[in-house]
Amino acid sequence: MSSARALARSAWWLIAQIHWSVHFYVLSEGFSPQRPGSMVRMTTYEYKIRETGRERCMRRLRSTHDGALCQDYTWRTVSGLLHVVYHGHVFAGFLKHLEDGAHMPKITVAGKTAEWSADKRLVNAIEDMGINIGHRCGGIARCTTCRVTFVSGEPDTMTAAEYEKLSERGLLGQYRLSCQILCTHDMEVEPELTLENQENWSDTGPRPADTVEPAAEWFPKSTFGAS
Ligand code: FES
Repeated sequence: MSSARALARSAWWLIAQIHWSVHFYVLSEGFSPQRPGSMVRMTTYEYKIRETGRERCMRRLRSTHDGALCQDYTWRTVSGLLHVVYHGHVFAGFLKHLEDGAHMPKITVAGKTAEWSADKRLVNAIEDMGINIGHRCGGIARCTTCRVTFVSGEPDTMTAAEYEKLSERGLLGQYRLSCQILCTHDMEVEPELTLENQENWSDTGPRPADTVEPAAEWFPKSTFGAS
């Protein structure tokens, strides 16, 4: 995790702790234990915390601080715990969102590195990095000109179409088809066939679609007996 993301997480964690502390103050200190009908009032105030924000609610709480609102300590405890669970869930989701958004897989090809979203096809990522990799069939697992070797990060899953084509050409275990792979994690690859090293090519082929074709389902390589 980068230091920036670690800092963002720490800052958010601190904000969350302050937020929870305010809620505990409201629940345990902002009400005094003598006035009936407290649950209704408390529910109203908690609703206002969510709806109108902490500051507006706290002003009203301060004005009624010496009123007597809450007699039921059990309710206070349960309500406090529910608050922790509710906000913990919300914050955990937000932190995951931050982390997911912050991490873009890095793809390294021929000494160049770029970040791509996890649903980007590897063949298109390579081409968009300025490398004229072949994709003569248009990315439908027919030609094998998008073949790459992996320096690191080889996926341990494979589409049935990739397995069948590599097996048919006797390439299984030597190459992977970049048109059948998504940029789901950091990878370093080397393309085998490019416009520059194929004298009889006038172009690299039709641009592959954004989604994997044929409609892809990935299986563990072990499913096919591939290593
Ligand atoms: S097999 Fe033709 S582009 Fe991948």
